Amino acid sequence: MIKIAPSLLAADFSCLGKEIKEIEEAGADLLHIDVMDGHFVPNLTVGVPVIASLRPKSKLVFDVHLMIDNPLSFIEPFVTAGADIIGFHTEVAEKPLEVIEAIKSYGKKACLAFNPATALSGVESLLTELDMVLLMTVNPGFGGQAFMPEVLSKIRQLRKMVDEKGILLDIEVDGGIDTQTAKEVVQAGANVLVAGTAIFAQPDRGNIIKILRGGK
Ligand code: DX5
Ligand code: ZN
Repeated sequence: MIKIAPSLLAADFSCLGKEIKEIEEAGADLLHIDVMDGHFVPNLTVGVPVIASLRPKSKLVFDVHLMIDNPLSFIEPFVTAGADIIGFHTEVAEKPLEVIEAIKSYGKKACLAFNPATALSGVESLLTELDMVLLMTVNPGFGGQAFMPEVLSKIRQLRKMVDEKGILLDIEVDGGIDTQTAKEVVQAGANVLVAGTAIFAQPDRGNIIKILRGGK
């Protein structure tokens, strides 16, 4: 099943509660929340207090994408704030298994993220420990960038590994996902699609979510 994860980054920040309610009613499966630290990526976004204040407003699964250095130190605060899935980047995790174990020790789901230029080497031994792998389809840091088609082969490679192992693992893609690229990533093997601009720029969020999911 294809799951759609609207990215909060493209929402109207002056009324986040209303925006989240709208995409929840429109049939979103997850809420993707981008956390940036100005070090790992050249941008700053929201953090723990914003997530904590949104938590009581929504029943959506909070998919928190940490684009930060030293993710291990921040697992507990993001769990407390209300994250359900925590994604961290392989580029900043010397010992990814430690971070995965920390996330799972709170009963939360662990996701390992890869920049477009980062190879999948090393992921195979971690696949059975992970709930999701996030393949960035743009360089992280900003919404509204163009999809990088060179990541399609990496999606295919990961889908093959997962299927060969016969494990249940979500393959999430993030960046430049629209009605056209959604078809390409799904065909390559992704099943969780993050979309910011494509969803929040549309007045009818229910319709765009349906199209992205392949329902039209
Ligand atoms: C980029 C973020 C994305 C971003 C996607 O660093 O991780 O989640 O919001 O935005 P769009 O869908 O506009 O490319
Ligand atoms: Zn993201």
